[in-house]
Amino acid sequence: MKNKIQSVLFVCLGNICRSPMCESITAYLLKKNRLDNIKVDSMGTSMEEYGNPVHSGTKRALYEHGIPCIPHTATQIRKSDYDKYDLIIGLDQSNVRNLYRIFGGDKDNKVFLLMTFVSENRDVADPWWTGDFEKTFEDCYRGCSALVEYIKSRS
Ligand code: 4NP
Repeated sequence: MKNKIQSVLFVCLGNICRSPMCESITAYLLKKNRLDNIKVDSMGTSMEEYGNPVHSGTKRALYEHGIPCIPHTATQIRKSDYDKYDLIIGLDQSNVRNLYRIFGGDKDNKVFLLMTFVSENRDVADPWWTGDFEKTFEDCYRGCSALVEYIKSRS
């Protein structure tokens, strides 16, 4: 991995709930830290929601916490995306396994599970199953805050 982090990609399954939530939170936190030169993006491992907008539950949770929702349409990650980002963050362990499969490994050691940045080896709560976007927001906000501290420590 390069020394200075200049780009971050968040990855979930559908790219409508969890990863766009992290994209908006991280862009907001980076801006607050005058690090908005760092590129932030999100993608999904599946085609399930391809072309669809951010889920209304994610939009509402961001709005309730005063964080602007970055407009986004769901897209699917490809092998060639590996070289385009310095950090690639999976929201759950199944996403991380799928990333290893799509990329054929992780030769530059840039793939991480979000919650490991708060020393928790677990998935972000998935609102697709829980319907609880606030719980997902809490996980994403904690994880992304720690991630931004990590980025700051390397900038
Ligand atoms: P996301 O949520 O991966 O956080 O965007 C989901 C969206 C769609 C599905 C599952 C999770 N799905 O099964 O279609």
